Amino acid sequence: MIRSAPDDALPLCRIPPRLAVPLMMRDSTSRPTRRRITGSAGMLGIVLGRSRLLQSDRVQWERALVTGASAGIGRAMAVRLADAGVDLVLVARRGDRLEELAEDLRADGAGPEVEVLEADLCDLDGLAAVEKRVVAEDAPIDLLVNNAGLGYEGPFHSQDPIEVSETINVNMVALVRLSHAALGSMTARDRGQVILVSSMASLQGMPMTALYAATKAFITSFGEGLYEEHKGTGVTVTTVLPGLTRTEFHQRGRWNLDKWPSVGWQSAEEVAAEALAAAARSRPEMVTGRINRVLAVLSGISPRRLRRTIIGRAARRAWPESP
Ligand SMILES: NC(=O)c1ccc[n+]([C@@H]2O[C@H](COP(=O)([O-])OP(=O)(O)OC[C@H]3O[C@@H](n4cnc5c(N)ncnc54)[C@H](OP(=O)(O)O)[C@@H]3O)[C@@H](O)[C@H]2O)c1
Repeated sequence: MIRSAPDDALPLCRIPPRLAVPLMMRDSTSRPTRRRITGSAGMLGIVLGRSRLLQSDRVQWERALVTGASAGIGRAMAVRLADAGVDLVLVARRGDRLEELAEDLRADGAGPEVEVLEADLCDLDGLAAVEKRVVAEDAPIDLLVNNAGLGYEGPFHSQDPIEVSETINVNMVALVRLSHAALGSMTARDRGQVILVSSMASLQGMPMTALYAATKAFITSFGEGLYEEHKGTGVTVTTVLPGLTRTEFHQRGRWNLDKWPSVGWQSAEEVAAEALAAAARSRPEMVTGRINRVLAVLSGISPRRLRRTIIGRAARRAWPESP
């Protein structure tokens, strides 16, 4: 259960890490054009991974709330949405980064409205503040991007208990609570969309990132159920499954990238473009990147036992010393 820790107990969250990765600056010469993101169904485009946002009257976002907007995929989504003229609420712990991004996106008044909401999604008060903003009626959110997430690499039994609860609280508890808040008010208006950022890791159990993969499996299943629950209404839920993406994620989670494939990586911008295009088309699910889509199809048609054997062997070769 998510809560603020009493003084004498193990805290449930970490202080946000100060990473060595430089903050990627948006090209300030490219001013946003105010253009609504709209979409229509296009299966071929999804299969081929076309990320262009199509013109149609079906979807129209006015204000999006993006969690984890201070870095990586969330930041790239915020930039893309701002370029399309969507007003934004940016959420993360590192408020300085959010302020800097907001300043850039506002483009001296020529860009969209951008609010900054500094909050720790591990913390009950932080989560409550974001929930409150999600349901606020004066400037309603019609796109919630549940993107904030993390995952530590290593044998589960030797993981720091604080990091265990942090992973569950951000990846699952916060995502569920914010989705619950958003879907309540969106259903009442019969309008809105929720994006859940899951992972390719959700498709099977993953040794050495077992907890992370399990939280993502939860998200993929949750998103699929919600999509069907809202089918035929004005509310849609799109689950996004990125594969390996170049962001701060792996440094933060102490992943040893020498042990992971060097092919199939995407940039945060590529993932953001594909994710938003899929949501604009009201797709239930989007595996980003062509290589990932092939792997997802293979995963879907292969017996679970075979997948487990292959992944188990690969993990034992990569981490012969563990556990
Ligand atoms: N990178 C990959 O290879 C990959 C692959 C598949 C899926 N994903 C998923 O994509 C999503 C985004 O990851 P990313 O790669 O962009 O990682 P990232 O660069 O590390 O960004 C993570 C974002 O989440 C925020 N965040 C983390 N803990 C938080 C907390 N307690 N409260 C509020 N915000 C918090 C961070 O902001 P602050 O630190 O400022 O709070 C940051 O903005 C995650 O859900 C991840 O699981 C990533």
